[in-house]
Amino acid sequence: MIEVKNVSKTFGENKVLDNVSAIFETGKVNLIIGASGQGKSVLAKCIVGLHEVDEGSIFYDELDFCIMSPEDRRKIRTEIGMLFQGSALFDSMTVEQNIIFPLSMFTKMSKGEMLDRANFCLERVNLAGRNKLYPAECSGGMQKRIAIARAIAMNPKYLFCDEPNSGLDPQTSILIDALIKEITYEYNMTTIVITHDMNSVIEIGDHINFIYKGQNWWQGNNKTIVTTDNKEVVDFVYASDFMKQIRSKLA
Ligand SMILES: Nc1ncnc2c1ncn2[C@@H]1O[C@H](COP(=O)(O)OP(=O)(O)O)[C@@H](O)[C@H]1O
Ligand SMILES: [Mg+2]
Repeated sequence: MIEVKNVSKTFGENKVLDNVSAIFETGKVNLIIGASGQGKSVLAKCIVGLHEVDEGSIFYDELDFCIMSPEDRRKIRTEIGMLFQGSALFDSMTVEQNIIFPLSMFTKMSKGEMLDRANFCLERVNLAGRNKLYPAECSGGMQKRIAIARAIAMNPKYLFCDEPNSGLDPQTSILIDALIKEITYEYNMTTIVITHDMNSVIEIGDHINFIYKGQNWWQGNNKTIVTTDNKEVVDFVYASDFMKQIRSKLA
């Protein structure tokens, strides 16, 4: 479990996070959603330590990330898998080399062990045998699956995905969402997904934090979000006039 408590973050004059509190439970897909520029990525970057918070605390299973020693932080970082916007694969490395990269950086595994692990992860994302391809030879959906294989190579307790579906077509997006959900349950990970894709919200939103103007404005799940009366959430979910008409017909 990850807990964010009263976190604030300001850049210059711009208060990007304003007293945000949230709980991200183990074994669940926890979403951070909201319109562009509301502070979603900054919140995720604070949680993984790419930004320091100005105020508040972040707990990883009871351990306060904001005050721990650099060594303890490094240990937690090795337990975090990350999937960034785009796939962020290394273009000059093969699929296999991409997946082995974190293992060679952070573990003392032998070559054979790393290869076994890479093969296991590739199989898990349905890409067995594609070891020697280069990213440029793979489709967008394949690249995303390779990035997931790399993210789970270290057997992470925590998985962060920042807009995992950006640039993918709707059907491929649904497959990637399904994979993220499956591996979350299978490995009992604490998964945090940033998205503004309504399909994802409905498909995988076990718990949802709606960020608005740097605040955790509304919390719920994929069932309560379609019926809430919270104005800002309604405007986000039913963005078009067409969808608003459908909502009023259902009411
Ligand atoms: N490193 C930074 N320095 C200064 N301002 C930043 C930085 N990162 C993000 N911001 C600002 O914080 C706000 C929220 O950004 P972000 O969290 O990326 O939004 P989003 O919800 O789209 O992910 C924006 O106004 C952005 O300009
Ligand atoms: Mg963002």
